[in-house]
Amino acid sequence: MKKAIILLLFLSGTFTSKSQENILVNTNSTQIILKVDADKNLTFEYYGKKLNRIDDLFNTNTNTGADAYPAFGIRPDKTIAIRAKHANLDLTLVLKYQSHEVYDMDTNVDLTTIHLKDEIYPFYVDIKYKTFKAEDVIEMWTEISHTEKNSVTLFNYASAYLAFKEPTTYISHFHGNWGTEFTMEEFQLKRGKFSIESKEGIRSSTKDNASFFLGLGSALSENKGDVIAGALAWTGNFDISFAHDEFSTINITAGINNYASEYTLDKGKKFITPALILTYSNEGKGQASRNLHRYARKYKMVGGGEERKILLNSWEGVYFDFNEDKIIDLIDDTASIGGELFVLDDGWFGNKYSRDKADQGLGDWQVSKKKLPNGIEKLIDESENRGIKFGIWVEPEMANTSSELYENHPDWVLQNAGRELVKGRGKTQVVLDLSNPKVQDFVFNTVNDLLNKNPHIDYIKWDANAAISNYGSTYLSKEKQSHLYIDYHSGLQSVLKRLREKHPNIIMQACASGGGRTNYGFLQYFSEFWPSDNTDALQRIYTQWGMSHVFPAITMASHVSASPNHQTKREIPIKFRFDVAMTGRLGLELQPKNMTDEEKAFSKAAISVYKDIRPIIQFGDLYRIVSPYQNKRLASLIYVDEQKKNAVFFAYYLEKQVKETLPYFKFQGLDPTTNYTINEINKYAERKVFGADDKTFSGSFLMNTGVKLNLSNEYDSVILHLTAK
Ligand code: DGJ
Repeated sequence: MKKAIILLLFLSGTFTSKSQENILVNTNSTQIILKVDADKNLTFEYYGKKLNRIDDLFNTNTNTGADAYPAFGIRPDKTIAIRAKHANLDLTLVLKYQSHEVYDMDTNVDLTTIHLKDEIYPFYVDIKYKTFKAEDVIEMWTEISHTEKNSVTLFNYASAYLAFKEPTTYISHFHGNWGTEFTMEEFQLKRGKFSIESKEGIRSSTKDNASFFLGLGSALSENKGDVIAGALAWTGNFDISFAHDEFSTINITAGINNYASEYTLDKGKKFITPALILTYSNEGKGQASRNLHRYARKYKMVGGGEERKILLNSWEGVYFDFNEDKIIDLIDDTASIGGELFVLDDGWFGNKYSRDKADQGLGDWQVSKKKLPNGIEKLIDESENRGIKFGIWVEPEMANTSSELYENHPDWVLQNAGRELVKGRGKTQVVLDLSNPKVQDFVFNTVNDLLNKNPHIDYIKWDANAAISNYGSTYLSKEKQSHLYIDYHSGLQSVLKRLREKHPNIIMQACASGGGRTNYGFLQYFSEFWPSDNTDALQRIYTQWGMSHVFPAITMASHVSASPNHQTKREIPIKFRFDVAMTGRLGLELQPKNMTDEEKAFSKAAISVYKDIRPIIQFGDLYRIVSPYQNKRLASLIYVDEQKKNAVFFAYYLEKQVKETLPYFKFQGLDPTTNYTINEINKYAERKVFGADDKTFSGSFLMNTGVKLNLSNEYDSVILHLTAK
C-alpha cells in the first residue's frame, strides 16, 4: 500500500552538477547509485556498502557508467536487458530518463520508481526498487508498457541489470537433479558468459536454483569479503546470466527466461517482470544469508512468525498402499511419539480410476470410497481425538490421461493439435493448461472446495510432478502460443493469490518431485518447501547446506526417514537422522510400526527436545561454521536467537578417517561478553560427545578458542544448547 510520495523529480539524491543528478536507493547499510546525465541517459553506477561521500565514487572512477536498463538498438553489441519490436516493426529502443519518485510505504520499506521512455515512441519502462532497510534487501523489477498503434513484441525483458567494474569475481550457485537439489558449487568467473537457467516449465529449481552469491574481488567465504546475493522470485523458467566483458566489467541480467517466449504486448497493457531480490554484505556469505532469512520471514512468506508443527507424512511410510485402518494407525503413532500434525500424502482419491499407483486418478479429487469409506472427515476426527492436526496432499495442476477429468476435458491439457501427447509419470501424466481461465477455476475450486468442506484441514502439501511437454495450448490464440511458458505461471499465480485471499493462514508446502519449486516466487503463497525427495540424512546435510544460503530454516521441511534409506539404501543411526532433521522444520516420514521400541523411545524424546529449541531454529540467525563442501568429513552450524541469549549448535562427523584429530569447533554469532552455559541435548543413551554439561564459557572463548568434541565414529553427531547465564 502506498502511503505518501515523499520525494519527487530531481528532489532526491545529490546534485553533482546542474545537468546531472544521482538517484540513491538506500537501505540501512547498503546503497544503489544511479545517475541521470545531461542527455537524460540513466546509468547504474554502484551497488555496495553505503558511501559517506558520493562524489568519491566519481572522483576515483569506481563507478560503472553502464546503462541502467540496457536496450537493444543503438549499441547492440553490449549486454542487453530489453529488446522489442515496435508496432511499426522498428527493432530499436533508446530509453531516456523522464522522472522518478519515492513512496514511503512504512518506516522500513520504500519504493522508488524511475520512469523511462523511448526517445521517439510511446514505449515506457518503469524501473522499481523496493528497499527493506533493516534487512538490507532490495527488490528490483521493471514494468513495461506502451501506447503504440498496435501491439509490440518483447523478445528480452529482464527484471534487473547490474554491473560491477570488477575483474575478479567468484560465484556460488546451486544445482543438481532429482535427489541432489541445491548442490553448491563455487568457482571463479572468467571472461565470457555463464548462465543459470531453467527451461523445464514447471519444476524450475530441480536442476538450477534461481539464486546466486557473487564474491567481488575475492573468493567467497562465510565471514569475509564483498558479496552480492540474488534470488529471482519467479515460479517458472528463468535466466540469470553473468558476462565478463572486455572492460573487466561483470554484467548481470536476471529475469524470466525468454526461451521460446516472445511476448506480444497489447496497447495499454503492462508487462510486469518478477522481482530480483538482492542483498549485499561486506562480511561474506553468512551475513547475506541472514539478511535474506530475516526478509523472508518478515515479508516474503506465509506465516513466517509462527512456529511450525512437527509432522509425520505418510509417503515413505505407506506410499499408495493404505486403507482407513492403516492411516488411523499412523495417526495414532504420530500422536504417541509427540507429533503435532499428520499429513496424508498421495493416494487418497479417485473412484472410477482409483489412485493406487502413479498412473491414474490425477484430476479426480473425490475421496476414494474403497480406501477411505468414511471420508477424510473420519481421519480429521481421529486426529483431533488424539490432539493432533490433519494435513493433505494435492497435485491440482495435473491429470492422468486415465482419469475422469481427462475423459471430460481433453482440451484442458497442454497439447499440440495433431501430435500424440508425450506423457510423464506413470506414462499417463499430463499438465493442465493454466493459461486457460476455466482451468484456473478448476484448480482453484479443487483446493478451495477441499478446504471449505474440511475447515479443520491444517496443512496442504502442493505437489507438481511433471515438466511442460507438448508445448501448445488450445486456449491461447495461434499468435500467442509463445506466451505459454509465461501465461501458465501468471495463471498459476492468480489461482494461488485467490486461494490465499480465501485461506490466508493455512500452511502450504511447495513440493515438485522434491525441491523443484524452491523459489521466492512460490514463497509468497507458501510457507515451506520440500527440499528433496532424497531423505538420506548424509545427503540432506549437503542439500540443506546449499538451501540455507537462500532460505531460512523455517521453510526447510526436514524429515527423519527409515534406515536403510529408501533412496540411497544407506544405513544411518536414528540420532544422526534426527540431528540433521532438527536443523530445519522437523518431521518424520516413515512407518513407525517398523521402528524398534528403542528407536520409538528415542524419537519421542527427540521430538520433545525439538519443541524446546524450535523457536531458536525457526526464528534464529544461522551461522554456518564448518562446510561439508570444504572438509568432506565434518559439518557444523549454529542458530542464535536475536538477543544472543540462546543458541543451538550442531556438529556432524560424515566420514571417519583412521587416527584423525578433529579440530576445535569455534562457535559464531555469540555475544563475546556474555557467559553461556552449555548442555548437550538429544543424547543417545549414555553417550556423551561434549562432556562438560552445565559448565559455563564466555562467548569470546567459544568463538576464539572453541571446544573439542568427542566425535569418534562415522555418523556421530552432537547438539549443544547454549543459554546465557
Ligand atoms: C513427489 C513428492 O516429492 C513426494 O514427496 C510424494 O509426495 C510423491 N510425489 C507422491 O506422489
